[in-house]
Amino acid sequence: MIETVQHRVTYAWHPSHAARWFAVSCSDRLRGAPLGVTVMDRPIALARTSDGRAFALEDRCPHRHAPLSAGLVTGDGIACPYHGWRFDAQGRLCAIPGMPADCALPQVRVRAAAVREHDGLIWLRPDGNDEGELPAMARRNPPGSRRFLWQTRWRAHVVDAVENFLDPMHTHWIHPGLVRRGGEREPAVAHFQSTEAGFNVLYQGSPQQSGLLYRLFESPRESERALFDAPGSAQIEYRYVNGAIVRISLHFTPCTSDRTAVFATLHVENRWAPAWLVRAVVWPFLKRVNDQDARMLALQADNLQRFPGVRVASTQLDLVRHWVETFWATGVAPEDAQAREVRILL
Ligand code: FES
Ligand SMILES: [Fe+2]
Repeated sequence: MIETVQHRVTYAWHPSHAARWFAVSCSDRLRGAPLGVTVMDRPIALARTSDGRAFALEDRCPHRHAPLSAGLVTGDGIACPYHGWRFDAQGRLCAIPGMPADCALPQVRVRAAAVREHDGLIWLRPDGNDEGELPAMARRNPPGSRRFLWQTRWRAHVVDAVENFLDPMHTHWIHPGLVRRGGEREPAVAHFQSTEAGFNVLYQGSPQQSGLLYRLFESPRESERALFDAPGSAQIEYRYVNGAIVRISLHFTPCTSDRTAVFATLHVENRWAPAWLVRAVVWPFLKRVNDQDARMLALQADNLQRFPGVRVASTQLDLVRHWVETFWATGVAPEDAQAREVRILL
């Protein structure tokens, strides 16, 4: 299956991002047939060997450039859909149908990306080096605590997508009644702090959330935190007085400059909450919230096409933009991201 991505502009991604790990698919979506994905404008074919190991190759056969993601899985690799050239999981050419056995094969290979699987997601490192750790956020959840996993795609630049998820200020406007009730606001303090992998924001004094789901299902809260781990993992973590912890994580992977893959997980600790129940209760809510955000981000992305290169006008309420934007533009955390406290009306 080939993913259809309209490439309008090819955006210059900072080269250091190729050495980072990105979520590219839910594990259960990759079965018998190869899958086409795009990471930072690089088309990639994902597939599994017959023993279940996932691998990733550049989605282009060196013969006549047919997409390998439309090909066939062949035991230990993939066969091109056009003339059947066969490549192994490392991208080495192994066979050409019709070529007599005593003839040498050309010295060509397909570039391979590194692949790992963890907690229901397939992760990929574009430069092909199987080194370094997955984002800490993905590794921190205890095994078995995942209740929900879903993937979608937003029409948005990765920076706008991350900002949307971590920004509480739009919730009154875009999700009135669901996340927060429109109109009613109360004073709170947001503490921003850099971490080794990114940053976190602790919200203090934030009132019990006024949205429908929160009113129905929450017990008294101890804390609410927003976390970010480079390159694209964002999380809202709720801790409760009764010891329960709920973490909603979104792992963002840039496909192109205006398409971002989103992998959403919900982890629950120390609380009876079977997956079927969480799914039944939370899914309609999350889907609605997602549709509202996706619609606004698409409007924003379209407008940015009409005004290319414009800069944003931010205030102290836009707590996370500077960090995320600087990181994606330069490949490193901003040097001036000091710890700070910001008064907000939530
Ligand atoms: S294009 Fe791939 S085998 Fe010919
Ligand atoms: Fe939102």
